[in-house]
Amino acid sequence: MKTVLFVGAGRHQRRAIMQARDRGLRVVAVDRNPDAPGLAAADVPETVDLMDVDAVTEIARRHAVDGALTVSADRAVPVVAMVTERLGLPTIGSTTAHLMTHKIGMRRTLAEAGVPQPRFAAARDLREGRAAVGTVGVPSVLKPADSGGQRGVFRIDSRDDLDAHLHAALAESKSGEAIVESFVDGTEMNCIVLARDGEATVLTLSDRLRPPGIGFGVGWIHVYPASIYGDQLALAERVAVQAVHALGLRNGIAFPQLIAEPDGGIVVVEVAARIPGGQMADLVRHAVGVDLVDVALRQALGEDVPDETALPRFSQPLAIRFFTAQPGPLPTGVVRRIGSLEPVLRADGVVQAETYLQVGETIRPVRLDGDRRGYVIAVADTNVQALARAEAAARLLSVEVE
Ligand SMILES: Nc1ncnc2c1ncn2[C@@H]1O[C@H](COP(=O)(O)OP(=O)(O)O)[C@@H](O)[C@H]1O
Ligand SMILES: [Mg+2]
Repeated sequence: MKTVLFVGAGRHQRRAIMQARDRGLRVVAVDRNPDAPGLAAADVPETVDLMDVDAVTEIARRHAVDGALTVSADRAVPVVAMVTERLGLPTIGSTTAHLMTHKIGMRRTLAEAGVPQPRFAAARDLREGRAAVGTVGVPSVLKPADSGGQRGVFRIDSRDDLDAHLHAALAESKSGEAIVESFVDGTEMNCIVLARDGEATVLTLSDRLRPPGIGFGVGWIHVYPASIYGDQLALAERVAVQAVHALGLRNGIAFPQLIAEPDGGIVVVEVAARIPGGQMADLVRHAVGVDLVDVALRQALGEDVPDETALPRFSQPLAIRFFTAQPGPLPTGVVRRIGSLEPVLRADGVVQAETYLQVGETIRPVRLDGDRRGYVIAVADTNVQALARAEAAARLLSVEVE
């Protein structure tokens, strides 16, 4: 029996852990939180801070694991890479893991490879920050160099905006660095790329719609297939593959985030080296029939990933609508009562839905990924119809607030 280590055991990992066990694997899982839902699902739960690489390596060694992975947790990606590298297990390598999680290193590497991207400059303090905004111009986007989930991400329209937000962006960065990028207008897209033995294949490209205002970076709707076509579609797929190669990923799942500009251009926002959160694995499963968790487990264990497992089997239009506050389907306020999910699940085209809402919690206007309190996935003959179905189904969840 083979043993696999999950680094991080939160809500997103739990299902993957159960899937690994169903496959006959023994699962060791680590998380700092003793109540993490994934720990209860593992054969061997270990409570440890996953940023403590020595401690995680020791656990991996003690349980003689055959491979390690993470699902959805960006900060675990370098840890998995370092642990597997130290133990001589299948690995993406710590260099690639760093470039895939540190936005400044990533931008410099992509620039050298000629991958299209926004203008950018790095900043560690106010003086550098002002200089960066001077170089890049406004509007721009300020972000921590190494964080995720939209934490510490701000749109900058003036020097005052920079002065007001730089501190918050730096505070979210482990290395105390921020990046300023030119703001790119257009349609944001998520791409899922699978690299096998150095060859990268695009599995899905989907639109990622965002709310107006302060939550401008949060994906609150996904629509597959993406709305671009023709030359721009071909360019997007080329750029996604080129970015994955430039960052050095030879075996693994990559998550390039792109923006399609109105003039036909494509720019890279960032590329992650993991199964994304936010139901992207569900998107891939329903849209093209590829099981990313199965692929990730095989790659973590150094097993072959045959074409039957790796390549799209069909193309099913769909839309994912997250439960978020107005102008999303939820009201804002303190939750008093949550209606049944049944009407949502029974609605036309719905293939999956879930909510994480709890009585007593406060629903706020969307600002972070964490403000998404569940989702509904609907399929249809076209992406436009799928979106209408997902929107209609989402409105069937009744939530009372005060
Ligand atoms: N240069 C940019 N131009 C326009 N929007 C951007 C830019 N950079 C980031 N964003 C928006 O902010 C979101 C979060 O930025 P990202 O770099 O992906 O950080 P995170 O690691 O938090 O996901 C993106 O998905 C996108 O919607
Ligand atoms: Mg991102």
